[in-house]
Amino acid sequence: MLQIHDKTFEVFLTNEEIQNEIRSLADRINKDYAGKEVVFVAVLNGAFMFTADLMKHVVLPAEIAFVKVSSYQGMNSTGRVDEVIGITQPLKNKHVLILEDIVDTGITMEKLFTLLSVEHPASIQIAALLYKPEAFRGKHEPKYVGFSIPNKFVVGYGLDYNELGRNTADIYQLKGSSH
Ligand code: IMP
Ligand code: MG
Repeated sequence: MLQIHDKTFEVFLTNEEIQNEIRSLADRINKDYAGKEVVFVAVLNGAFMFTADLMKHVVLPAEIAFVKVSSYQGMNSTGRVDEVIGITQPLKNKHVLILEDIVDTGITMEKLFTLLSVEHPASIQIAALLYKPEAFRGKHEPKYVGFSIPNKFVVGYGLDYNELGRNTADIYQLKGSSH
């Protein structure tokens, strides 16, 4: 059990289950991208643990960028403008694999796709440790998914609840949620 702010959470996926799944994701990625130039784009903050554990099993000559997607008020009436911070290397003709902790509605991934496409990479795919298919409304489904989960709030192993709870080895779900 885990108490964060006002909520109680219980273990949903153990670290052992997570590590086993990450190993098979890495195997697939190693096969699919053999002989290709790959830039792994890890989305901060949530994907930091997933990235660290996955990359230990990736045997490709991999570049790794840690990015943040931010919105700021533009100078005209259109309002919010999105930008991606943290890419320092050229992506042109390289294969981009986005590493994300969780794909929920898919809005974050849609933004990142659009922003990275401008650089004309050879391909862009998504690897998500967790995926909530019931909540998904995007165009680009993650190609690599660790766990497809119900549309319930989860925390831990990088994922936060109001900025707390990222520093656990297991993934937790709200207590009382059925799964
Ligand atoms: P999106 O709805 O796919 O754009 O998801 C955006 C972000 O919401 C993810 O990258 C997570 O940071 C966060 N998020 C979505 N679902 C959860 C959850 O169950 N727990 C913690 N964070 C979540
Ligand atoms: Mg995130």
